[in-house]
Amino acid sequence: MNQLKALIQKYKADMIDFRRDLHQHPELQFEEFRTTEKVAQVLDQLDIPYRKTEPTGLIAELKGGQPGKTVALRADMDALPVQELNEELTYKSLEDGKMHACGHDAHTAMLLTAAKALKEVQAELKGTVRFIFQPSEENAQGAKAMVAQGAVEGVDDVFGIHIWSQLPSGTASCVVGSSFASADIFSVDFKGQGGHGAMPDACVDAAVMVSSFVMNVQAVVSRETNPLDPVVVTVGKMAVGTRFNVIAENARLEGTVRCFSLATRDRVEQALKRFGEQTAAMYGGTATVQYEYGTLPVINDEAPALLAQKIISESFGEGALVQAEPTTGGEDFSYYTEKTSGCFALVGCGNPEKDTEWAHHHGRFNVDEDAMEVGAELYARYAFEYLQQ
Ligand code: NI
Repeated sequence: MNQLKALIQKYKADMIDFRRDLHQHPELQFEEFRTTEKVAQVLDQLDIPYRKTEPTGLIAELKGGQPGKTVALRADMDALPVQELNEELTYKSLEDGKMHACGHDAHTAMLLTAAKALKEVQAELKGTVRFIFQPSEENAQGAKAMVAQGAVEGVDDVFGIHIWSQLPSGTASCVVGSSFASADIFSVDFKGQGGHGAMPDACVDAAVMVSSFVMNVQAVVSRETNPLDPVVVTVGKMAVGTRFNVIAENARLEGTVRCFSLATRDRVEQALKRFGEQTAAMYGGTATVQYEYGTLPVINDEAPALLAQKIISESFGEGALVQAEPTTGGEDFSYYTEKTSGCFALVGCGNPEKDTEWAHHHGRFNVDEDAMEVGAELYARYAFEYLQQ
């Protein structure tokens, strides 16, 4: 479909303008009202029907000229509470303390551009393309909300993209199997008996319980899970005690768990509960362990991932197709693939000449806008070719 390549090129300047406008007006989780409205305005011009979702986001649908399956394309739209440090940019964020520091502005612009291109080949489309403009990815609530509002009902396959600064611009990856880890949150509240710091025998010290837990919990990774199946357990926050000579009655810690399989995730959850409760019991106290599910692992199905790989190598030249290592980052795209087949691709946007190799979520993060052409074409071609099969 060289026609799609030409169409994406035709709309490239508009795509960049659209992305820069979103970049100047970043909106946080479930506050993407302006962004949703901007997308809706373009869809109105294109005469592509859509419905808005609650509280933000929208789902559009383009019915092809011939009957067939339904494929969904997803872009996320939210920004982060990060202060932008790209002082030289003409389109720097106008919102203090808010920034598109993960490239979701680019995703939105890419998907809208794919919609424009697909609209022009509507008569040749064999089936339906659904466009999911999703809010609130950064706190893993958006995809869940979209699924609850029917985003994947009647969908045969779903495809998503994340622009990726750790891959060179001009390359893309869509591996078969694990791509992103599950990302869960846990907390442990230890309860002891406070008292005078000079009289430990009359107390139960919560500081000792929480310290012991932190030092021992890595044994969950090293002794309880398959060494060939990666797991991360991180304690990121700890609060204990009030004063140098008071034995702490309470202690609380919070952490995150990352896994690539649901069996391992269950095992870690059970082990954390046991470690928390038994550690407290060892010192004469009690513990309450809470484990909250965040995102599921993103596991790309084989046939869709191979289709994306074929498109990448055919459309973007030799060397464009790379195999990115799975990341222990989380991505709520997993809520769609829980319900239907699909895959998630990474499109490289790192370019040392344009200073776009900064880590995602950093105040200097930026996107090589040439990479957006790759992303938009990949979206459009994936939908077109999936439906042709
Ligand atoms: Ni992101």
